[in-house]
Amino acid sequence: MNRQFYIETFGCQMNEYDSEKISGLLNSQGYMETTLRDEADLIIFNTCLIRENAENRLYGNLGEVKRLKLANKEKIVAVCGCMPQNQKVREKMLKMYPFVDLIFGTNTYDQLPELLYDIEQKKKKKVISIVENSDNLKEEVPKSRKFSHKAFVNIMYGCNNFCSYCVVPYTRGRERSRDRQEIIEEVIALGLTGYKEITLLGQNVNSYGNDIDDRYQFPDLLRDLNKVEGIERIRFISSHPKDVNLEFIKAIKECNKVCSQIHLPVQSGSTKVLQEMNRKYSREQYLEFVRMAKAEISDISISTDIITGFPGETEDDFNDTLSLVEEVQFDSAFTFIYSIRPGTTAGKRTDQIDDKIKHERFDRLLKKLYPIFEANNLQYIGRTVAVLVDDVSKNKETYLTGRTESGKLVHFVGDNDLIGQIVNVRIEKARTWYIEGTIV
Ligand code: 5AD
Ligand code: SF4
Repeated sequence: MNRQFYIETFGCQMNEYDSEKISGLLNSQGYMETTLRDEADLIIFNTCLIRENAENRLYGNLGEVKRLKLANKEKIVAVCGCMPQNQKVREKMLKMYPFVDLIFGTNTYDQLPELLYDIEQKKKKKVISIVENSDNLKEEVPKSRKFSHKAFVNIMYGCNNFCSYCVVPYTRGRERSRDRQEIIEEVIALGLTGYKEITLLGQNVNSYGNDIDDRYQFPDLLRDLNKVEGIERIRFISSHPKDVNLEFIKAIKECNKVCSQIHLPVQSGSTKVLQEMNRKYSREQYLEFVRMAKAEISDISISTDIITGFPGETEDDFNDTLSLVEEVQFDSAFTFIYSIRPGTTAGKRTDQIDDKIKHERFDRLLKKLYPIFEANNLQYIGRTVAVLVDDVSKNKETYLTGRTESGKLVHFVGDNDLIGQIVNVRIEKARTWYIEGTIV
């Protein structure tokens, strides 16, 4: 059997990693991956529900796939990930796109071989597998990792925070920390097989261990992973400001392999808005975390997520976000226009902000951020930095791309056999999104 699958992934790194597991499982079932959707026997969409545009992208794709399915009924169309976790969205999908054969969620991808068996061998017409929470999701599945020098490692699943705008606690269930010995063993195995960098994944990595009653927490995990041979860089996403403390900052500082970079989503610079978002910290507390991190680790790079146009956000609230951005001087930021999400408390508010104002604030935020990113990047000119080479540049074929320890994207000319190596690059140019230089 030489069956082919095509997978398209929407959303965050958690989804990207789930797709590496889904691909690994399919490889183990004799399926080969193809990048040509038209030729695939199995088409899978790993979906995201975080904002409305992510949702709409799936509907657009399903519209296109309908043609393929009509032409060949043997093709299997599957939708998985965050969207089908929501009952209303799932029902809408079933009604509008009745040709979808297989639906599974964020807590059942490990059952994929059995689900496919039901369709292929038992000839079931529609197979659906959704559970809200799962304590027995198998992590030890085959993984088809995208890179052979850097890897994702799950340390926790789910989220307990219920930020009022966010759908994640409803799509990924309650917070569950993975057994620390399992994590350490996985990282040791990665180190032994040549991986140089790991990224620890969780919705809120610094609450690691809070659901396990043995006082072993995220800083302890960082210290243990720092000892693993072969691994040279340890990253983690995301951290929640409410859980930042001196112990956490000190662990980053002490552990030489832990990159001096924190992704610390602020969401808004207004204490009133933060309270309504249920973020559990104030503007002043956030600024204090940043001061603490910068005081302890002088070269720390701080990135963030910001939402514009949260319900009830006034011009003053938005100006508080602009002034916070100015004060922190973020190295990079993901910016989002607030999007009403099903089932969330903010989505039910009657004081939603007009679309035009949301967009206008978004544009003003970018105008504020871009010169800050560029100014931060300009400070690299003349410096020689260690870069882990990731790939050939997508835009310029003769260029390679990689990242500094601080997470800066670097472009430089070099041979493809440097991919996966750490090289020294002298920086000569700085732009808003990247720095450029020459190998020394
Ligand atoms: N609208 C806009 N942005 C959102 N995010 C989460 N939910 C929403 C929403 N409803 C953003 C937050 C979060 C990031 C992953 O996505 O900034 O940190
Ligand atoms: Fe969503 Fe808040 Fe949980 Fe992040 S911490 S996933 S924003 S609910």
